[in-house]
Formats: sequence, C-alpha cells, structure tokens
Amino acid sequence: MNKLKTNFCGIDMKNPIMTASGTFGWGKEYSDYFDPNVLGAIVLKGLTLEPRKGNPGTRIAETPSGMLNSIGLENPGFEHFKNITMKELEEDISTNLIVNLNGKTIEEYVELTEKIDKIDRIAGIELNISCPNVKDGGMAFGANPKIAAEVTRKVREVTKKPLIVKLSPNVTDISYIAKLVEDNGADAIAIINTLLGMAIDIEKKKPVLGNIFGGFSGPAVKPVALRIVYQVYKAVNIPILGMGGISSTKDAIEFMMAGASAVSLGTSIFTNPLLPVEVIEGLNKYCKEEKLKNISDIVGILHK
Ligand SMILES: Cc1cc2nc3c(=O)[nH]c(=O)nc-3n(C[C@H](O)[C@H](O)[C@H](O)COP(=O)(O)O)c2cc1C
Repeated sequence: MNKLKTNFCGIDMKNPIMTASGTFGWGKEYSDYFDPNVLGAIVLKGLTLEPRKGNPGTRIAETPSGMLNSIGLENPGFEHFKNITMKELEEDISTNLIVNLNGKTIEEYVELTEKIDKIDRIAGIELNISCPNVKDGGMAFGANPKIAAEVTRKVREVTKKPLIVKLSPNVTDISYIAKLVEDNGADAIAIINTLLGMAIDIEKKKPVLGNIFGGFSGPAVKPVALRIVYQVYKAVNIPILGMGGISSTKDAIEFMMAGASAVSLGTSIFTNPLLPVEVIEGLNKYCKEEKLKNISDIVGILHK
C-alpha cells in the first residue's frame, strides 16, 4: 500500500512532495533527470494576466549559505500559458498541476483566477501575495492584513478550486495574517516565500542585483521557515504547505512534524536535481522504519 498517499486541501496526491514555484519552471525542465509525474504535484512558475519581462540587470546572486533572486515574475502571460504551455504540459504530465497566481491589483488577481478556474486540468491555485521582487501586488499585498484578507475573499468568490494562499515571512505577525486568510476562504496556507535580502559587489561598489533587493532562499532559511510553520499550525485549522530550505528527507520530516501536511522543494533542486526522488524514497523508508500506516501520522506531531 502507498504510505505516502495524501489528500492536501481536496487535492488527491500520490505523495506530499511538490516543487516550489519558480524553481521547477513549467514542469518539464527537469525531465532529463527524473519523471516529473513521480511528484505529488507540480507548482508552476508564477503566472500573471499579461506577459511580464521581469526585473532588469542581474537577477540571481549566490551567497555562501543560500541564493538571492529578483526575477520579478517573468512569464509569458495567461493567453500563452493557456494556448501553448498547457497543451505542452498535457502531453507529458499526468500528475497534479498547481498554478502560482499573481496580480498587480486585486481586480487582476480576480480576473486571472476566473480564467484559471475554467481550466479543468489545473488541480489548485497557489495565490502568491508574497513576492518580494515586484513593486505592485506581491509582498505589498501579503504584508497588509486588510488587503491580504480582501484579495483572498474576492478570489474565493470566483473559484471552487482548492485555494492555497502563499504568505511572506517578511512581516511581524504572520499567524495573524494566516488566520485572517483562513477566515476569508483559503483552503490552505503556503509558507514561506523568500526573505528579503541583498548582496554587494565591493569592487563595483554597487548592489549585485539590478533590483538592489532580492528574495533569499535555500538551506539558510530553513530554521526561520520551520519556526513559521510551527507558529502558523497553532493559529489555523487549514492544512499547511511547508517550504523554505528543504534539502533532504530529514528536512521534509521536520517540516511535517512542525505542522506541514505537504512540502515544496525549491532552491535545493538547483544543486541536486534528483532531490525530489530522493525525498520520496526517503519518506517511504522512514514510514517502514517507524512502522507508520501513513506519513500523515507525523503531521503536527510536535504539537501533540
Ligand atoms: C529563482 C526563484 C524564483 C521564484 N519564483 C517564485 C514565484 O514565481 N512565485 C512564488 O510564489 N514563489 C517564488 N519563489 C519562492 C519559492 O517558491 C519558495 O517559496 C522559496 O524559494 C523558499 O523555498 P526554498 O528555500 O526551498 O527555495 C522563487 C524562488 C526562487 C529561488
């Protein structure tokens, strides 16, 4: 029997392993390494209504302990996504597809949601109100409790698809925002998006990133992300999609113990493209060793 089988906020999945938005392209980029259909779900790169060029200048910086990015949601926009990307995906991908949805205004979030809602093949929506690299929308929405609640409520009104709201760690009280988002119709919370950071080129005497600041991710953010998952688990009754620096089976187990029902793997896939396969195998082995009926038995175990 499959001990990893899970249902995450209404989405049936063969395992609780997903890929973090923006780190796995449009779902097929890693096909030379492994079959993406082994994943419980693929969370696609951030999508907006209109095409976006993304931010100018250098958009990635490596640090000794993680990476900074200021991609700025570069993507070809909804029409291209619907007519080209989805068709290509449907040829090879059978596992769940989750769209990571972004907007500059609440109206834009709503309009895009209405359009996504009509695509049957999309299993769920991850509402990104936490991108630190865009001027309008993004983190500015997620960090303002009133707007976070409003955008969630308005998007909820126009879709029946599972709605996962992705929150920013760059706030003082994330539990408060998580609860508001739950009260306004979210089916799940995704945490965390990147931490705001910067890097400096001392020879050029300039910031490395064209956008000056960028989103910090990778193994260094794991303790922060774990703490946030633990806190939010206490505050809400909806499931949590945990992410932030997961680079091993042990990390994934820690996130589940802190309260995540499913986890997304992100930056660490860049250094180890086989990570998703290793974590799925690792979780199976862990279930056997611990004689668990299902991996979900450990979700939130720290709180019991
Ligand atoms: C290059 C890059 C692009 C990203 N693009 C998006 C995005 O489009 N939408 C989004 O919600 N998160 C985006 N993220 C954030 C990740 O999905 C994830 O929340 C974050 O990186 C923390 O997980 P990690 O440390 O495992 O990467 C991006 C991260 C990186 C590194």
